[in-house]
Amino acid sequence: MRGIIRIMQFQTLLVASVFSILLQSRCITAAESLRERISINNDWRFTRDDPVAGTMDSATDRLTDNLDYPLNPGRGGRGGRGATTVPTVDPTSGIAAYILPTGNDFIADPAKRYARPVGNFGENVPYVSPTFNDADWRKVDLPHDFAIEGPFSTSSGGGMGRLPSAGVAWYRKHLAIPASDAGKQIYLDIDGSMSYTTVWCNGQIIGGWPYGYASWRVDLTPYLKFGGENVLAIRLNNPPNSSRWYPGGGIYRNVWLVKTAPVRVGHWGTYLTTRQVSSSSATIDLEVMIDNNSENNATIGVTNQIYALDAEGRKTGDAVASVEPVEAAVAAGASATVKGSVVIANPRLWGPPPNQRPNRYVAVTTVSHQGKLTDCYETPFGIRDVRFDPDWGIYVNGERIYLKGVNMHHDLGALGAAFNYRAAQRQLEMLREMGCNAIRTSHNPPAPELLELTDRMGFLVMDEAFDVWVRQKTPLDYHLVFPNWHEQDLRALVRRDRNHPSVIMWSFGNEVGEQYTGEEGAALAKRLHDIVHEEDPTRPTTTAMNWAKPNMPLPEVPDVISLNYQGEGIRDDPAYSGLRGIRTSPLYPAFHEEFPDKVILSSENAAALSTRGAYLFPVIDGISAPVKDGLGGDPKNQYVSAYELYTAEFGSSVDKVFASLDKHPYVAGGFVWSGWDYLGEPTPYYLSRSSYFGIIDLAGFKKDRFYLYQSRWRPDFPMAHILPHWTWPERLGQITPVHVFTSGDEAELFLNGKSLGRKKKIFDTPGQAMNGEPAYRIRWGDVIYEPGELKVVAYKDGKEWATDIVRTAGNASQMDLKPDRATISADSRDLSFVTLTVQDSNGIMVPRANNLIRFSVSGPGEIVATDNGDATDFNIFSSHDRKAFNGLAMVIIKAKRGQTGPIVITAESDSLPAVTCTVLTR
Ligand code: GAL
Repeated sequence: MRGIIRIMQFQTLLVASVFSILLQSRCITAAESLRERISINNDWRFTRDDPVAGTMDSATDRLTDNLDYPLNPGRGGRGGRGATTVPTVDPTSGIAAYILPTGNDFIADPAKRYARPVGNFGENVPYVSPTFNDADWRKVDLPHDFAIEGPFSTSSGGGMGRLPSAGVAWYRKHLAIPASDAGKQIYLDIDGSMSYTTVWCNGQIIGGWPYGYASWRVDLTPYLKFGGENVLAIRLNNPPNSSRWYPGGGIYRNVWLVKTAPVRVGHWGTYLTTRQVSSSSATIDLEVMIDNNSENNATIGVTNQIYALDAEGRKTGDAVASVEPVEAAVAAGASATVKGSVVIANPRLWGPPPNQRPNRYVAVTTVSHQGKLTDCYETPFGIRDVRFDPDWGIYVNGERIYLKGVNMHHDLGALGAAFNYRAAQRQLEMLREMGCNAIRTSHNPPAPELLELTDRMGFLVMDEAFDVWVRQKTPLDYHLVFPNWHEQDLRALVRRDRNHPSVIMWSFGNEVGEQYTGEEGAALAKRLHDIVHEEDPTRPTTTAMNWAKPNMPLPEVPDVISLNYQGEGIRDDPAYSGLRGIRTSPLYPAFHEEFPDKVILSSENAAALSTRGAYLFPVIDGISAPVKDGLGGDPKNQYVSAYELYTAEFGSSVDKVFASLDKHPYVAGGFVWSGWDYLGEPTPYYLSRSSYFGIIDLAGFKKDRFYLYQSRWRPDFPMAHILPHWTWPERLGQITPVHVFTSGDEAELFLNGKSLGRKKKIFDTPGQAMNGEPAYRIRWGDVIYEPGELKVVAYKDGKEWATDIVRTAGNASQMDLKPDRATISADSRDLSFVTLTVQDSNGIMVPRANNLIRFSVSGPGEIVATDNGDATDFNIFSSHDRKAFNGLAMVIIKAKRGQTGPIVITAESDSLPAVTCTVLTR
């Protein structure tokens, strides 16, 4: 809205006029054309860096305006114990003065909103001028991550992923706005842009937003030429040392043009909650914020109807309920909120599989003014009852749902941070196959479509806002803008996401430095907690704590206690003695005792490490140990053993986490660090490009750990999984331990047909303290290697349950290519992930094959990226040549926009016959 919005609560009148009854049918075409949400992802122009000196102010030969958001880097280290840096520069000077007003709708106190300065900023910079000739700039489609193009750099630390994500980038877009749009409001909605983004329209500065993970909107209306060409110029500047993981760079999420009438539903203006939920009835409470951007006071009519959605998100059948129509007065230039409630009989509830279904509904809101329909707005939602019980955990619709969750960063591996629906869906599908039912969006607001996916698929979500508050973790991270932006960022997150049934709690922080600042830190936590509850009183808040103890002030603030690693203990086992750093004994009991009314969960656990398919010897006898050179770690190749027993120094193996959770059944479950490998943070080998924490590697290949989680999280799914592979010509006659993950309770192992013994899931390694205790894997620790066949037969309750076989491979002699989907849509965004396997002549994967593969395509398709999951591979992802890693490589294919037919993918490699497969595009 123009100027400063005053949110005014008007008395609403419950008047069911004849007119509003007429509007109770669905959105009609005329109204739909009044609100349009148009994707403007395609055909942008892009360049790196600001214009070179000499092209601007001839007198000074410099950019006349400093286009950088004022930041004041300070001193300090990770954890923030010693350091706090609050910007000392005036955030309302320079370009910040034009950017801060963009967030006004998310500042509750009108007195604290920012007045927009008169004039323009940056007008002398040629790139913002509508007449600037950008024909030489690169053509790109959004979402776009410029950093993923590489190259990888070896010079700096690997925390941010070794890719060139820092620096300035410009995007320009030419937009035709028809004359018939005159009189409408036109907004630019940016779902995410990394970072410190500023928007100009036709040479005039409009606004912007610093936080790269925020979704935000600017109003283009006053600056547009109706019936002509308009030019958007967008600049962003991503600071170095601003993140602990790979942030990506560029406009990396979707961008929309939203057109509405002046009197319409406000930005994220609906809020639906459900109560008194049962299978026979549920009450829906609904609030709708109406903006009046017209010159006149308006009396408006609002109707709301509820329809069921099918699994694809399409409206089905007639309305199942209608909220009593409402009339309200909205003053010119102001907003008003109307409220209503409706009871639905026999609702189809939203709940997580396998026992429930993620059924959804949509509320269709219409707004009418002076007898005319002016808006029609749809809010998908779900009806569910979520209950938090401090002794039993989380209940959804009465069913206890143990959190089998994972942490996920936002990058999509070889695709970088550029959001892609299919890639995100594939991640969730594989996690679902493992039995995962919950996601923590570590440590920032996710792409909006991720939550659409979690709604659809029935995952539970901890939606997280921040990794830092005012105490920094890296010198140029979010702490620099926290003082001026935390309220806007937090309110925007909650307002954007609060209708998603999958979101069950809000996290306002992760391992923040304010854990160390006593009452002061707790006061800041309280402020964030209150902001969240002002926007959504129905869901609990939390903040993840890796250091705060039960007797400290911080844990008193959030509704839910979220512990990172402290629950199972940090460096408290003998295997971890001698390490420096925090040492904590298991704290679930102490927190439970101190906070008997709060649910406790594990927001991060494990931090286990491994490289897919890389088994190192010897293997520890215990269940958890930090990676050491020669014991779990191969420093020369920078690999971590795939026996899945080794961890970061502060971490615990999967087995140890399971044991700890089983000892403390009141814990609501938790979130593994991490679901997938991600770019950056390559603990323990900081020379690598990507992490070792994932259960699934960066290319999307399952590590052995996948099956360990599956064995616990899907107890009714018959499965058994043997490790390691069985191709060890150099280990003839040597001890080569065999471990089995199974959802059974007992298993018998056979080597070349000879039984090596039937064992129960009980720890039984000689000399170990935990002998006789329940175990989560079955081990044969003294198997002497001989080539051939290893077979396991697993049992459950004495009955045969599942088997697995691994065989010794011969030399590599062929390749196999398999697409995850054989038909994709020709929209240039849908993807097929094609797996290449190097095999011997019998079709057995050659488990250490590293042949160089050359991929090519013919037909209406393109190679988007290749990968192999090797954290040390510095070959850029866009390369069509990729070495197999431990037998596997991945090529990601998309269709050329609008072109259909067969795409033929070919893989060639010296000494192996070429192989092809076909993916159809429709
Ligand atoms: C935690 C942190 C995560 C990640 C993880 C593994 O302390 O919250 O973001 O860094 O450790 O290193």
